[in-house]
Amino acid sequence: MSKAIQAVRGMNDLLPEALGLWRRIEDTARAVLESYGYREIRFPLVEKTELYARSIGAVTDIVEKEMYSFEDRNGDSLSLRPEGTAGCARAGIENGLLHNQIQRLWYAGPMFRHERPQKGRYRQFHQIGVEVFGVATPDIDAELIRMSARLWRRLGIDGLRLEINSLGTAACRAAYRERLVDYLRGQHAVLDEDSRRRLDTNPLRVLDSKNPAMHGVIAQAPSLLDHLDGESAAHFARVKAELDDAGIAYRVNPRLVRGLDYYTRTVFEWVSDTLGAQGTVCAGGRYDGLVEQLGGQPTPAVGFALGMERLVELAARHGSAAADDAPLAYLVMLGDAAERRGALLAERLRDAGLTVESNLGGGSLKSQMKRADRSRARYALLLGEAELAAGVVSVKALRAEARQQELGEAELIAYLKAQIT
Ligand code: HAM
Repeated sequence: MSKAIQAVRGMNDLLPEALGLWRRIEDTARAVLESYGYREIRFPLVEKTELYARSIGAVTDIVEKEMYSFEDRNGDSLSLRPEGTAGCARAGIENGLLHNQIQRLWYAGPMFRHERPQKGRYRQFHQIGVEVFGVATPDIDAELIRMSARLWRRLGIDGLRLEINSLGTAACRAAYRERLVDYLRGQHAVLDEDSRRRLDTNPLRVLDSKNPAMHGVIAQAPSLLDHLDGESAAHFARVKAELDDAGIAYRVNPRLVRGLDYYTRTVFEWVSDTLGAQGTVCAGGRYDGLVEQLGGQPTPAVGFALGMERLVELAARHGSAAADDAPLAYLVMLGDAAERRGALLAERLRDAGLTVESNLGGGSLKSQMKRADRSRARYALLLGEAELAAGVVSVKALRAEARQQELGEAELIAYLKAQIT
């Protein structure tokens, strides 16, 4: 026998057993997003590499180290999408969705980053993302955060911390960057290698360093919040006021800079303290410059994405119920004639909107009943010689104490329907 081929490291199979909870979260998210007027969009898993370099930023971990980039047969450099914002903005521009209109869009699907796999961090992972185009005012920043808070409530998840910050406009960030670089140059002797490199390429990212040895330097660094322009400061104040109105607790974290370059003004993260190192469940912010940077008309925009793997883990810990994917009934058929009648009966039950798993490949009553039990169905429907002769089906409850009944087809349909309403 040849050696079995294994999945790519950091890319996981999602098995039926786990997917009940995934589906519950996806269904809940869709319902919550639609209740705010968001509409779904789907865009390719592969884009030109340049799209990500121009949006996420050429000097970011994602673009420098983590993208799955390859040349296609035409010699074009393409990349698997590491996130959804760039593709969503590209699709919006290309399809004329963004000009002089407000768009509230959402998407879901796999993203790819060549990171070091660990719990909560994978090379293929899944996001549900939301992007709003065409709204410059802070009401939408606050609506997005309220919407995410509603989703946690609907999923029964509590204990998430909200961290927010404002990065100001590109202009005030440029002025701040100079102050920061001056400060960091003064600290050059104590900077680690990564920070020295970032000092020249992307100094704000020094603030994001995870190296504990850097924490003192970072804590003493000038704060971007002290360098906001008046409009950005007013914008941030309004977002905070609306969060206060809604009773949503938050912490202003002046060191929250995010790992993608396109952000302006509001940025935020929802963090869990129970997931270990990979505790950020949902993150996003405003990116007013991106659409223009990608060749569209200037269009303000804001959004967030949540990490499904982390949210599923958290929901499981909170005992969130999985979506029920068990069939209502399992059809047991004994003998050739019963199998042929049963095949048609099962189709008619499905016509009536019922879920039925038919036994396949015959077997004794005992073995078929075992399979019925394993299917997690609530009822076994028995069709044997006696039932055929009498024109009935025997109905046996598998998960509750109930007398076995013999029902004709019309009664059977009515009875089963009553069980699901
Ligand atoms: P991000 O912070 O890179 O932002 O990712 C958002 C979320 O995706 C993270 O908070 C985390 O839950 C999840 N995530 C990221 N990388 C991984 C990974 N390797 N394994 C598992 N989960 C992961 C963005 O992607 C932005 N596009 C968000 C956004 C939308 N900003 C504005 N609009």
